Amino acid sequence: MPEIAYVNGGFLPLEQATVHVEDRGFQFADSAYEVMRTYDGKLFAAEEHIERLFRSLSALELEHHFTAKELICIAEEAVRRSKFAEAMVYLQVTRGIARRHRGVPAKCAPTIIITVRELHPATPSQWGNGLSCITVPDNRWGRCDIKTVALLANVLAYHAAQKAGANDAIFIGADGTVAEATAGNIFIVTHGELRTPPKSPRLLSGITRDKLLGAARATGIPCAEQSVTKAELVAADEVFLSSTTNEVAPVTVVDGQKIGTGKPGPLARRVYEQFLKTFVRP
Ligand code: PDD
Repeated sequence: MPEIAYVNGGFLPLEQATVHVEDRGFQFADSAYEVMRTYDGKLFAAEEHIERLFRSLSALELEHHFTAKELICIAEEAVRRSKFAEAMVYLQVTRGIARRHRGVPAKCAPTIIITVRELHPATPSQWGNGLSCITVPDNRWGRCDIKTVALLANVLAYHAAQKAGANDAIFIGADGTVAEATAGNIFIVTHGELRTPPKSPRLLSGITRDKLLGAARATGIPCAEQSVTKAELVAADEVFLSSTTNEVAPVTVVDGQKIGTGKPGPLARRVYEQFLKTFVRP
């Protein structure tokens, strides 16, 4: 089954796909992206992802003429060609190719790329003992709500976690509150209540985050979108991350300290199952 790429109008095998050396996405991270996924060969929440992409592009003042329908059609075609049932669909739009200069070029044709790779997220039976995370100071820029490819701080935080023998890193702001993990939003459970930091420029407003909150509220689980201190994170009964690719990923160790029982908790499982039932396979 082929891994597929789409570059500026043409489909080709992923390993043959290239972009120009003076693409501003490559040189300045002048670019926004989305990561979507499929369930049973169908794109999930594509409209929400493209809406967020358009919000990111508009925040970057990156002009384009794509319509949501057009982008979804191309992504669907890439998925069809890949034949993967469960796939990760990466979509990136850059400002395009121009002589290397800080100035935003007056005229530039955006570059669009899509890649499709097979995806195997862990189901609850594969959660095992859950993830261990370290906390790191949030040294990212002030617009983490824009999904840009400027992810170097995330890459280095993840690398620090790996070097420390952990799975991932959680960004803590200068005020001592939790922002998010390197590639996912964060939820804590305290006395049966689900809490996640509120939407703000400090974090990416996750599509999965919204769906999990919707699923939890529909089942009567109390939910709060309120800040979480590092002390509250470590003292929580459960902690989990959410993202398109990993769905729900329980965290059972933070900075070497056990969370709750040290095993993935019951609420993470309940919310995940409700998410599947409500949105994925209703
Ligand atoms: N990232 N926060 C960050 C920093 C992320 O990179 C992501 C997802 C999320 C969760 O967003 P969503 O639920 O819409 O996937 C939150 C994707 C998966 C990635 O960059 O690979």
